[in-house]
Parts: sequence; C-alpha cells; structure tokens
Amino acid sequence: MSDHFTKELEVGFEKVDLEHRALLKAVGEAVEALRGGRREEIHEAMAKLGDYLVWHFSSEERIMEETVYPERARHKAAHDLFMQDFLQLCEAEKAGEDLGSFSEALGQRIPEWIKFHIQVNDAPLGRYLAARDRKPEGSRPSAKDKPYPS
Ligand SMILES: [Fe+2]
Ligand SMILES: [Fe+2]
Repeated sequence: MSDHFTKELEVGFEKVDLEHRALLKAVGEAVEALRGGRREEIHEAMAKLGDYLVWHFSSEERIMEETVYPERARHKAAHDLFMQDFLQLCEAEKAGEDLGSFSEALGQRIPEWIKFHIQVNDAPLGRYLAARDRKPEGSRPSAKDKPYPS
C-alpha cells in the first residue's frame, strides 16, 4: 500500500483527518527505516510510531467518550487489539530479532491494518462527529449531560 494519506482515507472530520495524516507519515518513516536496514533508525522510527499510535488512539477515545459515540466500546477494543500486536512487534525489534522476521508485519500488516481501521471504524466515527456538529448545540449528545457506564 501507499504509506501516505489519500482521499479515500478521509473521514470527513478535520481533527481526525489531520491526525491520520501525521500517523501515516510516521508509518511511512518506519517502513522507510526498515528498508534502510539500520537498527538504530528502525528502533527510533518504531518508538516514534508507537508514541503516535498511543496518542492518536487516546485522542479518538476521548472524543468518543465526550460525544457519547454509540460504538465507542467496540472501537476502543479494536485499538487495544492492534496495540497488543504492535507492542509484540516492538518487543521483537528490541530483542534484536532478525529483520526479516518482522519486516512483513511492519511493511505490510501494520500499514494495512491502519488503513482498514480508518475505513471501517474511523470513517463511521467521522460521519457521526460531522453530523453531530451540524446539530444545534443543545441537542448534541454529550457526556456532560448524559451519564453513561464507562
Ligand atoms: Fe480508531
Ligand atoms: Fe484513527
């Protein structure tokens, strides 16, 4: 896949789209580092990608809680599952495993998962947020006026 943000990945909510642009840039840098084959660069790029993933997922989860997004539990579960996979990959990298053993994961599986997640999970969230923004303020679902179980 292309590591860059494309029109088909837009979810229609600017804050999320901007974060996805930065996320895919970090993915592209990690893939590039992997191709270069230098261990320190790979390590640095993966650490940066990991930080950005954690930050971005938290950002989306905060938005989902604040706006009482109905699919928030399922969406967060998808983030958590992905992070488990990503952290395993980071462990393998830290342990000095052969580059070939995780090049498929970093070069293909991770970028493909992110793209898939954006289209399947983030796009409906983007539509929900955009529709919510079009409603008059008092009628928008909000965590402030509607208690819900966490
Ligand atoms: Fe997401
Ligand atoms: Fe996202």
